[in-house]
Amino acid sequence: MTDRIQTAQVEVPADFIDLGVGQPGQSLLPLDLIRRAATHRLGGDATGYLQYGAEQGDGYFRAALASFLTASHGTEVGPDALFVTAGASQGLDLVSTLFAPPGSTICVEEPSYFLALRVLADHGFRIVGLPTDAQGLLVDGLEQRLAALRPALLYLIPTFQNPTGATLPPDRRDRVVDLARRYGTLVVADEVYHCLGYDGAAPASFGRHVDGGGVLSLGSFSKILAPGLRLGWIHSDPPTVRRLVGCGLLDSGGGLNPFASAVVRSVLELDLLRPHIDHLRATFRARIAAMAEALRRHLPDADFERPAGGYFFWVRLPNGLDAERVLPVAEALGVGFRPGIRFSSSGGLRDRLRLSFAFYDTEALVEGVRRLGQAVARVRQADRGPAAQCM
Ligand SMILES: Cc1ncc(COP(=O)(O)O)c(C=O)c1O
Repeated sequence: MTDRIQTAQVEVPADFIDLGVGQPGQSLLPLDLIRRAATHRLGGDATGYLQYGAEQGDGYFRAALASFLTASHGTEVGPDALFVTAGASQGLDLVSTLFAPPGSTICVEEPSYFLALRVLADHGFRIVGLPTDAQGLLVDGLEQRLAALRPALLYLIPTFQNPTGATLPPDRRDRVVDLARRYGTLVVADEVYHCLGYDGAAPASFGRHVDGGGVLSLGSFSKILAPGLRLGWIHSDPPTVRRLVGCGLLDSGGGLNPFASAVVRSVLELDLLRPHIDHLRATFRARIAAMAEALRRHLPDADFERPAGGYFFWVRLPNGLDAERVLPVAEALGVGFRPGIRFSSSGGLRDRLRLSFAFYDTEALVEGVRRLGQAVARVRQADRGPAAQCM
């Protein structure tokens, strides 16, 4: 028996500021919007969305989603090129099951989203991190790596990356696709932050390349609407979509999440998503400005780029300080974060940490950074020894 009933994946105590939490905070969960869309959809007599769903996903929902993506993703998207998922994580898991035989090598960016690494690890794959710079995956040397490793998948977060915030420029995208095709590697572009640019639009999605084969783009409503919907999509070419649609999981259970698809169909048809994304952008822009200022003030020796999109600051601690050593001190002071090592597929990035600005309002973010600054100062002081502490 438990004396507490858990209702969400993450429940942070009131006096603790966990800057590790990479999900929208409560004030950004659009209850009224969802209520309006649900009333619109459930008000009639239709019952189809209570039935096992069409394997590819409801056709009306896919049509509405295709219009939205055509307007936002820089490429023409047709409903037939979309497959509905229960979120990007589930999409990645299914793609791993269907397109990467057991024992495959999978290439990822170093660093990459730590929980995607876990999804891939569950399949027993060999995961190899490829080098990146401030703009994402390096294409110099990529051909040699692909030739040597022959990976089944190349998993990328090309836009406003988690954790770095980096965005891969169009010319590198084209090059990555060319090379991956040459070596028979399926490009899996996880583009969940695509709509969340704060200094301008993102480059065209990898969806631009799907018609030539060997590329798929994962999307999700988790970051732009609500994670509890468990709703996302895969954009790919007809043979890939056919393989997804024909899998045993869907044969048994029908299409994924028809009920949430029905509600989000109304969100899209009533044109409620675009204004919500505009609201998220304005909110995050203000939070980034406040957090950047707090970082400069409380962690003046730390390095970071101001994020142009997404959910995260990627911070380098001064003098090679190990973020995992800072974490317990920070937690004792009431602040959390994700140490860089968790995003590494080779146990590196120890002096890095990821801070999210999605979960807390500006005041809490600034206070969290202040506590973090204190924690870093304490660890550095301890490293200098007792003499320094007495000075
Ligand atoms: C890059 C990336 N992919 C996928 C996810 C999870 O997406 P979903 O909720 O659609 O499974 C996240 C969430 O943090 C993410 O950052």
